[in-house]
Amino acid sequence: MTHSELKERFARIYGGRTEDVRLFSAAGRINIIGEHIDYCGGPVLPAALNLRCLVAARKNGGNVIRLAATTIDKRAELDIGRLDGYRKLEWGEYQAGVAYVMQNDGYNIVGCDLLYDCDVPFGSGLSSSAAIEVATAYTLSTFSGEAGCKTGDNVALALLSQRAENEYAGVNCGIMDQFASAMGKKGNAIFLDCATLKYEYVSLDLGGYAMVIANSNKKRSLQESKYNERRAEVTAALELLQTRLPRAKNLADVSVGDFEGAKGVLSGKILDRARHVVYECDRVKRSVAAMRRGDIAELGRLLNESHYSLRDLYEVTGKELDALTNFSRGAAGCIGSRMTGAGFGGCAVSLVQKDRVAEFVDSVGKLYKAATGLDAAFYDAFADDGAFEIRV
Ligand code: GLA
Repeated sequence: MTHSELKERFARIYGGRTEDVRLFSAAGRINIIGEHIDYCGGPVLPAALNLRCLVAARKNGGNVIRLAATTIDKRAELDIGRLDGYRKLEWGEYQAGVAYVMQNDGYNIVGCDLLYDCDVPFGSGLSSSAAIEVATAYTLSTFSGEAGCKTGDNVALALLSQRAENEYAGVNCGIMDQFASAMGKKGNAIFLDCATLKYEYVSLDLGGYAMVIANSNKKRSLQESKYNERRAEVTAALELLQTRLPRAKNLADVSVGDFEGAKGVLSGKILDRARHVVYECDRVKRSVAAMRRGDIAELGRLLNESHYSLRDLYEVTGKELDALTNFSRGAAGCIGSRMTGAGFGGCAVSLVQKDRVAEFVDSVGKLYKAATGLDAAFYDAFADDGAFEIRV
């Protein structure tokens, strides 16, 4: 939908003139490497995408936030005097959570009409929820500032969006998705230390290679319970390792060498989970080094190793993502492929020679369909900016 179509749609729903409608935008994200690492306090390498959540917005002078969407037939109305009461909304819970957290933090939440136009596919591991949260936070923060009250920079908006997801929506996610959605930079990935939030941009100019995103279209049914289970397992692993390595505050603080020396305190699944985290952190750092020296073949190998570790040690892939990445690796011109996001379904990211992308999409799509009965979707996506107001 074009910007003017979105404004016209807004005017049809809420009335008024299209000239008064403003547009805010936040990004979906892909994680290149560093999976299930953010909540262990380690390094990750996501990039914001041109798959985005747009919000058409206008203050309404009242005491309600009205919500509508272009892609689903749902509406909601939030009374800004009782924002804590919308936790069970069928749709609009993320927006309510953001408004609630912001109000408690001293932002002036003003009445407004909002229309969401989100082309981040839902439930695909590309962080549609983070994009909705951050776009909402950016809009409400701008309006709060215009009322002479508090505003937040993009890092603050990412953090409060994460809190909304943790405390209001009850999803125990880390900071990676919201940070990428807010802080992305066109053409770049973000090398983010999730313990300190220090970050550097890393160019995604990969020479003759493109990042291809493929959606397995497998519904991620197990995701939430297994996600929380993994978080509990790595917490248990850290507590045991701390008996040998008392200076480690986070599991990601444990180096490969220290881990190999201390791992005797761990066994079974807990040992496997911790091994994934420790070696995945190392792979993120090696990936960034490889990208900086233009060694894309090494990056491809690290993507493969990451997937194998998520499959065999962390056990979050599932047969669809394993099939999709296997077929991808076998395709001509592909030098690496892995699942991205929480797992159990959702998307894979592959490094493919630019002039072979069309052939890759065709052959992988057919093989995947024959093996699983599912149609994979491939996105023509690139690394984009984080959250901003669109000024036309
Ligand atoms: C989900 C969570 C993130 C992160 C990834 C796994 O996307 O929202 O915080 O933990 O899973 O890397």
